[in-house]
Amino acid sequence: MSNTFDLSKFIRPKIYNLEPYRCARDDFKEGILLDANENTHGPSLTMDTPFKELNRYPDPHQVELKKLIAAYRNSQVTNKENFDELTYENLCLGVGSDESIDAIMRASCTPQKNKILVCPPTYGMYTITAEINDLDVVKVPLLPTRAKDSLKFQLDVPKVLDTLKEDDSIRLVFVTSPGNPTAAKIDTDDIVEILTKWQNGFVIVDEAYIDFTTGSVSTLVNKYPNLVVLQTLSKAFGLAGVRLGISFTSKELSKILNSMKAPYSVSTMASELAINAFGNGSIEKLNASIDSIVKGREYLIKEFTSLPYVDNELIGGLDANFILIRIIPEELAQKVYSKMATESKVVVRFRGNEVNCKGGLRVSIGTPEENKKLIQQFKKNMEELLK
Ligand SMILES: Cc1ncc(COP(=O)(O)O)c(C=O)c1O
Repeated sequence: MSNTFDLSKFIRPKIYNLEPYRCARDDFKEGILLDANENTHGPSLTMDTPFKELNRYPDPHQVELKKLIAAYRNSQVTNKENFDELTYENLCLGVGSDESIDAIMRASCTPQKNKILVCPPTYGMYTITAEINDLDVVKVPLLPTRAKDSLKFQLDVPKVLDTLKEDDSIRLVFVTSPGNPTAAKIDTDDIVEILTKWQNGFVIVDEAYIDFTTGSVSTLVNKYPNLVVLQTLSKAFGLAGVRLGISFTSKELSKILNSMKAPYSVSTMASELAINAFGNGSIEKLNASIDSIVKGREYLIKEFTSLPYVDNELIGGLDANFILIRIIPEELAQKVYSKMATESKVVVRFRGNEVNCKGGLRVSIGTPEENKKLIQQFKKNMEELLK
């Protein structure tokens, strides 16, 4: 498979042949640095900061951080037989996943000519970014419940493959795993089936929530050159304010994505904080935070599903730091959402207008105190609405 996929066919020619910007520090990094028109007198700040040398441009290549991330994902692979380990060369970093989504579209899709395929209900930024890039969006909804195993919100693989076969202008397939707002991880076999049967572009697997479950496909990018995996520090790592997104791809594609990105988009603060997040001690903290969120999720599911005005089955799955509940009657979902936000100052997300999510409220798992307050206020508001 890796021998037959010709990357140059799926990257816009100007980008494929791009000469990356050469930074002032690419050649020399030490000594009296008067090469980059920085302010040698230092930053004009009135606050103390732990970040050193903010008057200097950040490292554009971020090799130390990329090595830590690659090692972390490699360490999660249990069966290392025939496993081609990730290296820093498989990674491109950016300003959150949103930048990664835009980058892959700009690299591979020609405006007004190519299309993307999405599987609703899903994350809204794929469509917004496609619109900005003047690309049409083809939709193949997820199956709300898969017949063979009752798994929720899985890919309709035959329909995806048929759609791709019928329209060769589709260049990117976006798969959110675990899904948003579905909280359901996508079956890896289904992703692999699409990767092997369709090689007319890239399958983008957005793993923003992967650390709340197991089985990242990021470690498969050396095996499938048409696979792109997106991750972010915004969710399990608790660093949404830092804005750091990661693309895992083949080394060949990574080189292209790194060449086209703005060289200094990842700030010194973002990279130092991210290095700390993957360091000793922080991973233990990450795991403790995930454990606590899972406990909070169990508590919320138990409380919500025992109420007469919440369906006792979740709409979505159990693979993220949020759940998707169904309000009964469905028409009250939007009302209780607004009432809770305005009167109780407890804000969840109404998702009832999404495909197969009628009556749906998406609820992020809070701290134990927040979860308790959420349940109290939800009951109060629902009971007032039902009077
Ligand atoms: C599926 C999915 N991908 C990406 C993002 C955004 O990630 P980032 O904060 O890295 O831009 C979100 C945020 O809600 C998301 O739900």
